[in-house]
Amino acid sequence: MRLRDCHNFHDFRRLARRRLPGPIFNYIDGAADDEVTYRRNTASFERCDLIPNILRGVETVDMSVTVLGQKLAMPVYCSPTALQRLFHHHGERAVAAAAAKAGTMFGVSSLGTVGLEELRKAHKTPQVYQFYFHKDRGLNRAMMQRAKEAGVDVMMLTVDSITGGNRERDLRTGFSIPFQLTLGGMLQFAIKPMWGINYVRHERFKLPQLDEHVDMSRGAMSIGRYFTEMLDPSMNWNDVAEMVRAWNGQFCLKGVMSVADAKRAAEIGCTGIVISNHGGRQLDGSRAPFDQLAEIVDAVGDRIDVLMDGGVQRGTHVLKALSLGAKAVGVGRFYLFPLAAAGQAGVERALSLMRTEIERDMKLMGCTSVSQLSRDNLRFR
Ligand SMILES: Cc1cc2nc3c(=O)[nH]c(=O)nc-3n(C[C@H](O)[C@H](O)[C@H](O)COP(=O)(O)O)c2cc1C
Repeated sequence: MRLRDCHNFHDFRRLARRRLPGPIFNYIDGAADDEVTYRRNTASFERCDLIPNILRGVETVDMSVTVLGQKLAMPVYCSPTALQRLFHHHGERAVAAAAAKAGTMFGVSSLGTVGLEELRKAHKTPQVYQFYFHKDRGLNRAMMQRAKEAGVDVMMLTVDSITGGNRERDLRTGFSIPFQLTLGGMLQFAIKPMWGINYVRHERFKLPQLDEHVDMSRGAMSIGRYFTEMLDPSMNWNDVAEMVRAWNGQFCLKGVMSVADAKRAAEIGCTGIVISNHGGRQLDGSRAPFDQLAEIVDAVGDRIDVLMDGGVQRGTHVLKALSLGAKAVGVGRFYLFPLAAAGQAGVERALSLMRTEIERDMKLMGCTSVSQLSRDNLRFR
């Protein structure tokens, strides 16, 4: 199986599975508890049918959107994800370059493996910095200042990870940073030697967003301990309101699920929210973002930009979300499997397939711009 044989999400996932050691594949593919929410995120789109219009003259389609003050050539962006250089040795460099080629936004995680400054200098496309809130307020201020100076366009505070999700696949394989593999996990690395060769032949693994502030060297601090010891479970609305004021720019909360929280986010001055359950990796049983979208758009859509992520695998999923009122849609595994399968070329192919699907689907729906997508074209089963 080669990259040119990949025509959809499932093909990329299959190729990624062949290339990656089992524990790493399962870190990407896995989710919390029984993975009910993970499955439902995609399944929720199937409850919704599209009703196309015909004979509307659709030779040219404009799928660009403006969201969080950024003009995107397509309504899909690469949501921030951790540890990308473990999936492919080019990691965030590959994703940022592919996003820039597609004219869309990409996110850099606090647990990213390439520095946000380097990525900012390399590409002009809009860049999000995904932030976790630390107990040490001085550290929060220093990290925000660093992102501001680097020219980050959007601050995105993740609020659904106040404690780590129960990812049982990782418990079984021993996936953690630093690695604490079980014997079974080690064997799975041994049968994928190319991954190991690439890993040792390239730049040393690091977490540049944190390295300056947290000693992660030689196992001094694990990511698990970073979450429990350094992040602040007492974070509340006042803390975030202060952050919003300090950032003084595009500020988005990622992981909002309730209407009440969406309203509160608007009140404290957030310019956007992402309806998200972290790809089913945190609270299993949490509702699918697509199922929550209409209520939240109705409550705050006229005041702030409402985005969503979770389970998006197809152009039609994107059209359904936009029709309900989402301003743009984030993807995670949709670009991570292609990254693992083939680096930058993989992510480029995935985003280009998505673009082609959206264009084709908009034509089939009888729409030439995103503004023509509406709830009139949807029915729920
Ligand atoms: C392997 C992996 C790592 C992730 N790391 C982060 C992260 O560091 N910060 C964050 O806010 N979200 C993270 N996410 C969540 C994504 O940003 C996004 O919300 C989610 O992947 C969307 O679901 P999808 O994968 O079904 O598209 C991660 C997701 C995956 C799959």
